[in-house]
Amino acid sequence: MSLTDFSAGAPLAQGGHSLPKVTMPALAEMKRQGKPISALTAYDYATARLVDEAGIDLILVGDSLAMVVLGHENTLAVTVDEMLHHTRAVRRAVHRALVVADMPFGSYHGPISDGVANAVRFLKEAGAEAVKIEGPRVELVRALVEAEIPVVGHLGLTPQSVHRMGGYRVQARSIDTVLQLQADAFALAAAGAGAIVLEGIPREAAGAITAALPTPTIGIGAGPDCDGQILVFHDLVNLTFAPAAKFVRRYGDASALFRSAVEHYREDVEHHAFPSDAESYHLPEPARRLFSIDPDFSDARDNPDAVVNPDAREEMNEEINQA
Ligand code: KIV
Repeated sequence: MSLTDFSAGAPLAQGGHSLPKVTMPALAEMKRQGKPISALTAYDYATARLVDEAGIDLILVGDSLAMVVLGHENTLAVTVDEMLHHTRAVRRAVHRALVVADMPFGSYHGPISDGVANAVRFLKEAGAEAVKIEGPRVELVRALVEAEIPVVGHLGLTPQSVHRMGGYRVQARSIDTVLQLQADAFALAAAGAGAIVLEGIPREAAGAITAALPTPTIGIGAGPDCDGQILVFHDLVNLTFAPAAKFVRRYGDASALFRSAVEHYREDVEHHAFPSDAESYHLPEPARRLFSIDPDFSDARDNPDAVVNPDAREEMNEEINQA
């Protein structure tokens, strides 16, 4: 068996379509060709499968899961082990999209060798194809790339810096800070980052950086001029229980859908309307006729014999005697 596939990426059958596997070099090629990169977060098997089958190019197992899945106030609390657990679930679902795992707060902020060791775990133990790190950590990016670990950078509003920023505030609002951001983006690109997320910055800054940078940019709250866009899945489908930020567009209302389904189910259970006879398993005839179909079996309480329908028992005895 050959371990090497020299084709540009094997096409995979997805929901009737045949689309090539997305790789890190494929993102750069998309930028060259001016093809927008679609990206979304996913944190579990079911949503990752939907997102992949819908043809999204990049799936980020974002540390935003700390908030939208685990209910924390910010992203700081999520651990490497929790991120690995969710990345494995996503990995099992995804065939085509590039799977990127977010390195959580604290997992790459100490010695570079610790950051590399933690990143290795995401590829080795969870099947991620790249990791994402926040901030202009140029030395770490270089070390990761040397260790054959593809890296997505993340600049601008970096949620792991919430305390330093004093909240989730739009960044790069002055000429000096835009120039600094641009310098950071170039430094990450030169160190080998394969793509850079630009979050929460003015459209003009994101557009200028995107136009100048050879590396693809993926925007969130950064306007339409980036090479791609990413949103948090739960924002897209209204599952966050909070007002949407300005940059979020809600494409569906899963909250309303789930709420009404769950309420309807509860009502049906309370009114004995679920499950129906058709949704029940049955004994084969003629044994089925032996048992009462009184739904609450109230006669049977403390009297197991009462479950058996006496008329049917009589009928069956006659059938047996006549046979
Ligand atoms: O954790 C996250 O979801 C992110 C985004 C870029 C959306 O970092």
